[in-house]
Amino acid sequence: MFLPQVVIRRKREGEVLSEQEIRDFIAGVTDDSVSEGQIGAFAMAVYFQGMNIEERIALTCAMRDSGEVMDWSSDNLSGPILDKHSTGGVGDVVSLMLGPMIAACGGFVPMISGRGLGHTGGTLDKLDSIPGYTTSASEPLFRKVVKETGVAIVGQTGELAPADKRIYGVRDVTATVESIAMITASILSKKLAEGLDALVMDVKVGSGAFMPTFDQSVELAQSIVQVANGAGVKTTALLTDMNQCLASSAGNALEVREAVQFLTGEYRNERLLEITMAQSAELLVSGGLSANIEQAREKLQLVLDNGQAAEIFSRMVHGLGGPADFTERYEHYLPGASIIKPVYMEGDGFLSAMNTREVGMAVVQLGGGRKVASDTIDYGVGFTEICRLGDRIDSSQPIAMLHASSEASWNQAADMLRGALTLSEQAPQPNSMVYKKLS
Ligand code: URA
Repeated sequence: MFLPQVVIRRKREGEVLSEQEIRDFIAGVTDDSVSEGQIGAFAMAVYFQGMNIEERIALTCAMRDSGEVMDWSSDNLSGPILDKHSTGGVGDVVSLMLGPMIAACGGFVPMISGRGLGHTGGTLDKLDSIPGYTTSASEPLFRKVVKETGVAIVGQTGELAPADKRIYGVRDVTATVESIAMITASILSKKLAEGLDALVMDVKVGSGAFMPTFDQSVELAQSIVQVANGAGVKTTALLTDMNQCLASSAGNALEVREAVQFLTGEYRNERLLEITMAQSAELLVSGGLSANIEQAREKLQLVLDNGQAAEIFSRMVHGLGGPADFTERYEHYLPGASIIKPVYMEGDGFLSAMNTREVGMAVVQLGGGRKVASDTIDYGVGFTEICRLGDRIDSSQPIAMLHASSEASWNQAADMLRGALTLSEQAPQPNSMVYKKLS
């Protein structure tokens, strides 16, 4: 007979749980027969005792199976089902380009994304700045757009991994979020419910990253790769730099604007290009659409240059309710801010460090993110033309253009941005963009 307290006690004592025990516990979480107190105790036991890879795989699969798992087999799609997940950052707008680029190369990307969390932006909040675009698409519409255009980016459809929702809520208020085993199961249970053939995981490292140290980022990446592959989804992970804002913009509509400019070739920030290429190439190889990374990069460059990726983005936006001519007339459709002015910084020197978390918080304070879950978002605010590490700065050189809805919030965000930057006499060594690949 299954007793939650027995499972909790065994984990508390550092014992290895069986797959059946984990399945029973998660079934109890899903049907509410396991109490919140028991979930909290279980989470704390896992926090201290950890879980081996087999236990993590069992936990991930049980949580994935707690709700609907998408099945694409009856759709007879002509290519593999692929997706990427990022641990989140500032100016990380990669999904908006990667999805259409992969679709243009023959993959299908049913991307279920999230909202901003803390200092990090969320893909859904960005897409919500497009008038008419429905991030809360029904499952039939989601499937239709994936089938017809190759990509759809929406929020959760139906009940995806409901056990994670309950467990995450308890972890959040019991100081048990920071467990690699549980972060792995939480992220992967939702991604694997999309019915994927391959996944690329972008684990951020640096001052704007979710994980506080390089070693912990590596540990999370290793865990995700082992568990996802163990659960049958070919997965690689890239550890990428988040010691500065990734795009040249941060803020919802401003990042969508940069994504469109990237796809059409109007403007491509080279760091954003490199990270987008690196992740997309991994996916094409994992999904069997390219023989190697070089070939994948060539294909990706081609679909950027010949406009196919931009065309697919347009079709996705229109398919999900946005304007048919959004890509051509994005400036007309995207909300803007009433005050747009350059920010200057006292002093003279090379930009040697950026507290990227603080830059993200400046966007939140402008109204571009949520302080509490019920906050509404001001889509037009944020930064553009953000300076980069290594730039020579003096008091006549703007560090960014700041888009705000009031003078008071402009001033506060400008102070936060200035405070987030460090100038030095020496130019810093350039950071790698991709630190490590795990497969
Ligand atoms: N994101 C998730 O979805 N789950 C976690 O546990 C942490 C980050």
